[in-house]
Amino acid sequence: MVIRKELADHKHARFQSERLGSISPRVKSLSSAPTDATGVSVPESLPEPEHPLSSVPGETKGQRDARMGWFRNAKFGMFIHWGVFSVPAGYHCGRHVPGRNVPPFSEWLMFNAKIPVAEYRDNARDFNPVDFDAAKFVGAARSAGMKYIVITAKHHDGLAMFDSKVNDWNIVAATPYKRDPLKALAEECRKEGIKLGFYYSQAQDWCNGGSIGLAGSQRPEDHEPWDPVQVHEMDDYLDNTAIPQITELLTNYGPDTPAILWWDTPCAITAERAARLNAVVQQLRPGIIQNNRLGGGTHGDTKTPEQSIPPQGYPGCDWEACMTLNDSWGYKKDDDNWKSSRELIQKLVDTASKGGNFLLNIGPAATGTIPAESVKRLAEMGEWMKVNGEAIYGTTGTPFGSEFGEPVKGLDANGEEVMVSSLNEWRATQKKSHLFLIVLEWPKDGTLAVPAYDQRILSARLLANPAVRLQVSQTDSGITIAGLPDTAPDPVASVIDLRC
Ligand code: GLC
Repeated sequence: MVIRKELADHKHARFQSERLGSISPRVKSLSSAPTDATGVSVPESLPEPEHPLSSVPGETKGQRDARMGWFRNAKFGMFIHWGVFSVPAGYHCGRHVPGRNVPPFSEWLMFNAKIPVAEYRDNARDFNPVDFDAAKFVGAARSAGMKYIVITAKHHDGLAMFDSKVNDWNIVAATPYKRDPLKALAEECRKEGIKLGFYYSQAQDWCNGGSIGLAGSQRPEDHEPWDPVQVHEMDDYLDNTAIPQITELLTNYGPDTPAILWWDTPCAITAERAARLNAVVQQLRPGIIQNNRLGGGTHGDTKTPEQSIPPQGYPGCDWEACMTLNDSWGYKKDDDNWKSSRELIQKLVDTASKGGNFLLNIGPAATGTIPAESVKRLAEMGEWMKVNGEAIYGTTGTPFGSEFGEPVKGLDANGEEVMVSSLNEWRATQKKSHLFLIVLEWPKDGTLAVPAYDQRILSARLLANPAVRLQVSQTDSGITIAGLPDTAPDPVASVIDLRC
């Protein structure tokens, strides 16, 4: 297994190897040896190019800046994990399935319980999301202040959540719902000025003969078919399922949709296979934004830390932290480990201050409804964004960095050890003529001191209470803001807007 050193500090092996496409060759039979003995040779990672990273061959920095512009400004997006896995919702034969990934994600149920393909496909008969309303999905995103959505067009269980002519394992042909929710979502997003991206599991596919693999696991059984009908040639799967479906996704939803292709778990994707997939993408939708999980040593446009925010961000790179609201990505009926709105707002702030985007997940139920706990948190985040969004949208990361402190060991949202920032008192973002100080721990003595800044500060105000008069003093060694009220104007995060 190849693990690129650069990422090793930030993430545990599971997600590193998912990004790198480094494991899980497709085995040829149920009894053949797994991993490197049988499979696809693992390409060495390409040397990391200087910024800008790019999925578009030969692109200049100017072209890239233009292409990434909307994404950099957006800062906050909604991830949606929705599919037939929301029917069993984490349960198989009446029992909760513990699973190999921790915590067990509901969308991994088929893998975790080793459910035979025919039996798993039976779930489609109960997948009838009659309560689905694109306006509610988009409305929930807007209520939070989110500017884009990325939805699972196909997850690892292989069910296409769109009207695919490639095979009948799709929401139109296999379920009583018989409609294409992505069409409705694309129309609604267009109407509401929200960008729509598609998540597509390009390699891992348990029902259509794609690859299988729990990245980071060395256990053979985590990389082997558990049902003989899963045994299939990877190139045939790519040519006859993945590429035709990607073609459908890139041609059937209007010239603006998808705005992002979000790849995942690139097991068995070699450099040659990645190039083949990217050639289709560049031909049909040149310049679409792609994440860094295509595999085969490719870097894509964005880094995608999962369930954690790296202690210093990724200076000079575009990146997007994705995170669950509770534990599972897909809907899971007993998953009530909800993050608080406070925690979520602070994570959004932390991410923006490190120059990244925050892609926050919802897992709608099989009926098409969004759990009320999610709706509530999104609305609460939106309340904060209404007052303080100026300090998030269109900003770049902090000019300082010392406010993060030394990286220390902490836990990610899966409860696994990762490196995190040691200091969390305040964060900063900036945009033309503004330096925003976002205060997470309100000072008790009415003053806040931050490091030196190379532009002259002209005035200071609190976004949540502009009437308060603040005093700013600036020297070569730093800026001090005095006159802060005793109580934080916002109990979660108060923004001081310094005009330059
Ligand atoms: C992981 C999981 C997956 C989830 C994704 C979100 O790669 O395999 O279930 O879709 O992370 O980033």
